[in-house]
Amino acid sequence: MLITNEDNMELMARYEDNYFDLAIVDPPYGIGADKAQNAAAESRKKANGKSKAGKGWKEYKVSNWDNEIPTDEYFKELFRVSKKQIIWGGNYFPLIWNYSNSFLIWNKMQRDFSLADGELAWYSETQKAMRTFDFSRGGALACHNLGFDLTACELDKEYYDSAIKRIDQHKAQIRMF
Ligand SMILES: C[S@@+](CC[C@H](N)C(=O)[O-])C[C@H]1O[C@@H](n2cnc3c(N)ncnc32)[C@H](O)[C@@H]1O
Repeated sequence: MLITNEDNMELMARYEDNYFDLAIVDPPYGIGADKAQNAAAESRKKANGKSKAGKGWKEYKVSNWDNEIPTDEYFKELFRVSKKQIIWGGNYFPLIWNYSNSFLIWNKMQRDFSLADGELAWYSETQKAMRTFDFSRGGALACHNLGFDLTACELDKEYYDSAIKRIDQHKAQIRMF
């Protein structure tokens, strides 16, 4: 498992064509989710926890990571270095609809919650993966549990450190089954 604190374009530039069997990515959606999250958490705080807005939302530092969607060059690099792809928030990236119109829907099974009830992920034809390129904290834990090789990056140092901490804690837990 190799997880680095860097820009994903720098990471991908180091790999040859089709190096990764599967890329699972969760890029910025360009909808200001970072700011909306903090605003909702703030309004819930002001309402002494009684407002539905912000329920379950943690207040994070002020950031700009969700201002824009990734560039076309990002998607070209992604398709160059990986054979198959799963792209969270694929409904926000018109360029990729040219390649496939397949979506999976994650029903979070959580209601009365101010985050979305579900999310869409765009996918190319899926296959069993061995080498994966991903960055989501849950994805890293799953790769560890399943014994998949993982290469990943996160640009923001604070998010990177918190992810590494969570992964290290997970690895330190004794497997019961
Ligand atoms: C939608 S969030 C993904 C959250 C992730 N699924 C998780 O569980 O932690 C998008 C993330 O992409 C990161 N990011 C934005 N631009 C990036 C870039 N050029 N290279 C690497 N990471 C980037 C942001 O800092 C943010 O943490």
